[in-house]
Amino acid sequence: MSEKTKNRILVTSALPYVNNVPHLGNMVCVISADVYTRFLRLRGIDVISVLGTDEHGTTTETKAIEEGITPKQVCEKYFKIHKKIYDWFESSFDCFGRTSSRENYEITKDIFKKLNENKFIKKDILTQAYCPKCRKFLADRFVEGVCPKCGYKDARGDQCENCGALLNATELIDAKCKICGTKPITKESEHLFIDLPKLAPMLEKWIKKQSVKGRWSQNAKTMTDAWLRDGLRPRCITRDLKWGIPVPLKGFEKKVFYSWFDAPIGYIAITKECRKDWKKWWFGKDVKLVQFMGKDNIPFHTVIFPASLIGTKEDYILLDRISSNEYINYEGGQFSKSRNLGVFGDDAIKTGIKADVWRYYIMVNRPEKSDTDFSWDDFQSKINNELVANLGNFINRAISFINQFYKSEVPEAKPDKKHEKLTKEINNEIKKITGLLDDIQLKDALKNIMHISKIGNQYFQETEPWKAINENRQKAETCLAICANMAKDLSILIRPYMPETSSKICKQLNIKELDWKELGKLSLKKGHKINKAEPLFTKLEDKDVEKFKKLFGGKKVEEKREENIKDIFSKLDLKVAKIISVEDHPDADKLIVMKIDLGKEEKQIVAGIKENYSKEELQDRNIVVVTNLKPAKLRGIESNGMLLAAVEEKHGKENVKLLSAENSSPGDDVFIEGIKKEPKEVVEFNEFREIEMRTDANGHVLYNGRPLKTQKEEITVEGVKENTLVS
Ligand code: 2FM
Ligand code: ZN
Repeated sequence: MSEKTKNRILVTSALPYVNNVPHLGNMVCVISADVYTRFLRLRGIDVISVLGTDEHGTTTETKAIEEGITPKQVCEKYFKIHKKIYDWFESSFDCFGRTSSRENYEITKDIFKKLNENKFIKKDILTQAYCPKCRKFLADRFVEGVCPKCGYKDARGDQCENCGALLNATELIDAKCKICGTKPITKESEHLFIDLPKLAPMLEKWIKKQSVKGRWSQNAKTMTDAWLRDGLRPRCITRDLKWGIPVPLKGFEKKVFYSWFDAPIGYIAITKECRKDWKKWWFGKDVKLVQFMGKDNIPFHTVIFPASLIGTKEDYILLDRISSNEYINYEGGQFSKSRNLGVFGDDAIKTGIKADVWRYYIMVNRPEKSDTDFSWDDFQSKINNELVANLGNFINRAISFINQFYKSEVPEAKPDKKHEKLTKEINNEIKKITGLLDDIQLKDALKNIMHISKIGNQYFQETEPWKAINENRQKAETCLAICANMAKDLSILIRPYMPETSSKICKQLNIKELDWKELGKLSLKKGHKINKAEPLFTKLEDKDVEKFKKLFGGKKVEEKREENIKDIFSKLDLKVAKIISVEDHPDADKLIVMKIDLGKEEKQIVAGIKENYSKEELQDRNIVVVTNLKPAKLRGIESNGMLLAAVEEKHGKENVKLLSAENSSPGDDVFIEGIKKEPKEVVEFNEFREIEMRTDANGHVLYNGRPLKTQKEEITVEGVKENTLVS
C-alpha cells in the first residue's frame, strides 16, 4: 500500500439547510461524498463520513413564520425528512447529526472563546435594514425591491435574480420587508467580527501550500484567490436573531452566532455526537479532511472555517481536499417546491424507480465543471441505453449463458493471445478508474466503468459463445469464464455508485462482496457454482415518462405543452353564429336543440343551457361556436358544434354565460391575433379541453393573454367574475 493510503480520511458533505425538502440537485453533494467514502472503504482505508442538518439562522426562522410553528419545530420536522431521504438514497454516512445539538453549542462557544482570548475578535457598529413592524433586523435576502442595476421589480436584498448583481439590502429602490411588506428603516447595532486581516498571514501561507498539496479544483482556487486578492476584511459573526447559539460575551447575550460561523463547526460537533473517538479524528496528525460542497460554499470552507480553527491555536485538522460541484437544473429551469417543479427526494421515492438508478443518473450527470440539466428524456435514455442495454445486458448474458449451458458452473478459462490482450485492456481501465476515483473525478470514473461493460458486450458479441459452444468448445468456455470474472469486476467497481445493484450481482455470482484488491483477477475459477440470472434494471417506458412529466412539470415540459396547445388552438375553427330556432330536447331536462346560421350554412347543435337562458333570450342571438369539433350524439340527438360559454360556480350552482359578438355577422371568423388559423377537419374533444381560455376584468375572453376577436370587435361575456374559465 502506498504512503498516501495509510492515512485516515474524514469526509464531510455540506450540511443542508433544514427549511426544505431536498431535491435531486441537492443530492449531488451528498451522493458524491458517499460514493467517495464507499470507494475508500472498499480500498480498506480508515474513513468516516459526516453529514447532518444546518439548522440555525434566518432560513429556519422564516420557514417557521411561513408555517406558523417555532423554529425548533421546523428543525424537528425537516430533520426527519432529510434523514429519511438520505437513508433512502443509500447515503452511508458514519455520523449524522445537527447543528442545534448540545455538542455544537459547546464546541462553537469554545472556539469563539479561544478566538477571543487570542485577540482575533473585534467589535464594530453595523447599520442594517430593520423592519419597524416586525421589530426585527432583516437579513439581506429578506428585503425586496427594485434592482438598482437592471430595474428588475422583485430583486432580493442580497442578489438580483434577473441580472445576477450582488447587492446590499440598503441599495434596493422601494425596498420592502419580505415578511410584512413594510418599508424598512436602517438601524445601528454593535456586532462581533472575526479579525481576518490579523489572521491573514497564517491563513495565506496555509492556503498557498494546501491548495497545491490538496490539488484544489480550479474554481476553489479561483474563488479563494479572489477573496485574498480583494483583501480580507473583518467578518461579522453575530446576528440579531433569536434562533441560534447565544453569544457568550457580556453585552452580546441577546445576539446569536451567524449560522455560517456555527455550521462548519457542526462537522466537528456531529462527529462528537456520534463517536467517542472524535478527537482522534479532528486532532489526528494522520487524518486528511476531504470536504464536498456546492460551489457557493467554497469561501466558507477555504477561508472562514480554516480561519476560525487556526485562530484557536489548537491542533485542529484543516481542509486537505475540496470537491465543489456546480448545479443540476430541472428541465432547463430551477427546481421549485412551491411551484411544484422538479423531482424532490420524496417524489423520487414515490416514482418506484430504484435509488441506485437515481444515484447513477446524478453521478453520470454530475455537474463538475458547469451546470447540467435533468430532463426526463435524457433520464429515460440513460436508463434504457446505459443501465439496461449496456450494464444490465452484459451481466445478464454472461450469467444466464452459464446457467443454461454449463449447469451454472463457471467453465475453465484457457486464455490465448486475444484474451490476454483483453485482460490487459481491462487492467488498464481499472488502473485508470482507480486513479480517477482517488482524484475525486467521480463522473469520469463512472463513464470508464461503463466502458468496461461495453467492452464486455463487444467481446461476447464477437466471440459468439452460442456458436462456439458447438464449433470450438474451449473458446466458448474461456469467453464465459472471462465474462463471469468481468461481471465480478463490475460488481466491485460499481459498488460505490450503485451498492444495491452490486449486491445483486454478487448474489447472482454467488460471491461475497469483494474488495478493490480482487479487481482484474480471474478469481472465479472452474467449477464455481453461480445462481440464477435476474434482470438488474427495468426499462423506463414512454408512458411512464409522460406521466412523470405531467406530474413534475418543468420549463421545457411546459414550453412543449404550450406549443402543443397553441397548435391545437390554430386547428380550431371558431365562428360567429346566429341562433335561428330553439327547441327543447325531447329526452333531457337540461338540454336544448338549436339551429344556427353560420353564414354559408346552417347547423344543429345541442347545449346544456336550458336552466340558464329562456328561448326568447336565445332567439336571434349571436354566439361563438366551435364548428369543427367531432360531432357528438347527446341523448340521441346529433350536435354538430359546440357553443362557448363562461362557466362559474355560484352558490353551488353553475352560472353559465354565453360569449357574444353582437356587432359581427354569422359566419365571421373568431381568432386570436398572432395565432394563424389552420383548421383541421375535426378536432377531438380531448384536444379542445387542453385549451384554457379565461375572462378578464373587462369581460373579454383571453387565451394566452390575448383577446378572442372578430374583424369588427372583441368577443365579450357579461355577468361573470374575472378569470372565469371559458369552455
Ligand atoms: O449552503 C448551504 O446549504 C449551507 N447550509 C451549507 C453549510 S455547509 C457547513 F458549513 F455546514
Ligand atoms: Zn416586516
